[in-house]
Amino acid sequence: MRLGVVLFGLGRAGAVHFNGIVRNRRIDLLYVVEMEEEIARSVKALETEGITMAKAVDHSRTDEVLNDNAVHFVVVATPTHTHEKIVRAALQAGKGVFCEKPIAKSLESVAEIYDEATRVAKPLFCAFQRRFDPNFDDVRERVRNGEVGRVHVIKTCSRDSPLPSIEYLRHSGGMFVDCAVHDVDLVCWILGETPTSVQAQAHAFKQDIADLGDVDTVAIVMKFPSGALAQIDLSRHSCYGYDQRLEVHGDKGMLIASNAKDNTVSHYSPLSERSGSFQHSFPQRYRQAYDNELNHFVDVMLGKKQLMLSKKDAIVAVRLANTCEDSYKAGKTIQFRADE
Ligand SMILES: NC(=O)c1ccc[n+]([C@@H]2O[C@H](COP(=O)([O-])OP(=O)(O)OC[C@H]3O[C@@H](n4cnc5c(N)ncnc54)[C@H](O)[C@@H]3O)[C@@H](O)[C@H]2O)c1
Repeated sequence: MRLGVVLFGLGRAGAVHFNGIVRNRRIDLLYVVEMEEEIARSVKALETEGITMAKAVDHSRTDEVLNDNAVHFVVVATPTHTHEKIVRAALQAGKGVFCEKPIAKSLESVAEIYDEATRVAKPLFCAFQRRFDPNFDDVRERVRNGEVGRVHVIKTCSRDSPLPSIEYLRHSGGMFVDCAVHDVDLVCWILGETPTSVQAQAHAFKQDIADLGDVDTVAIVMKFPSGALAQIDLSRHSCYGYDQRLEVHGDKGMLIASNAKDNTVSHYSPLSERSGSFQHSFPQRYRQAYDNELNHFVDVMLGKKQLMLSKKDAIVAVRLANTCEDSYKAGKTIQFRADE
């Protein structure tokens, strides 16, 4: 059985999901709902391949799309502040929802929307694609199998490239909930526990980011009940390319998931001068992870698998990101309780 899908938003993340949906043989892309007509038109050959374009500005058309019986689920890749309305409408129309992180801006809304998904008995998936990256999955598996013994330290380094537009940053919700949320989720998922305290420092090196009241560089330390310490190193802009690394150190050894590179000679120069050993950005680095998360959701829709990312996971990640931000602003360590 092939599942019918609607894609909302055809920007950076939407383009990644568009390609993944089109590559996936178990689903048919029936509609693309995009606010900007020009962007919608720029995707050539859509109509000729039987894909109907609907404009988000035309609300009656959006309802019609959501009420189409051929549609089984929606993929939401619009700006964060628009998620809540689209996700609620899709669930109320009885569709499954695959949504870019976060599901909504407030934690109360996230919890309510999960409850609505339970009420209508449709899967709601918060797309933390790093859990579906084969390298990170391998590290998790090996940590869980005791390969490095008792974990002492887990480190992530996530330096973004290219710098997102100011327009994106203005609506991103800030660096903690937009970027750190991925790393805190990844660390908790690998360790299988949530921290008891978090501490963060941050700075804005770029004036236009400081003007938004946001930051572009973050350092986070978290302590877990097992004693494990997490160190998270984040940057909004790495001039030398997309830099994503993970390291786990335990009493029996160390695991490192390095960057995927074209060669092993290291030369850390600005992108414009480089010979091209780093990947450009998230669509290239996480291509396999995006395919895997979509396939996971299709399995869930077909009743073959249980969702591997729960309501609690989605809420804890955002609560942790918010607590890191509170720690930075208050200049102190903050105790954290996962079950609050
Ligand atoms: N998982 C990841 O690695 C990752 C990476 C990037 C972005 N994201 C998430 O994806 C979401 C989108 O980010 P982006 O960088 O693609 O933004 P973007 O600004 O590049 O794209 C958003 C698109 O949605 C369209 N749009 C706006 N409102 C709409 C509406 N109501 N209906 C239909 N279309 C609408 C815009 O015209 C634009 O084309 C954000 O929530 C972000 O957090 C996740």
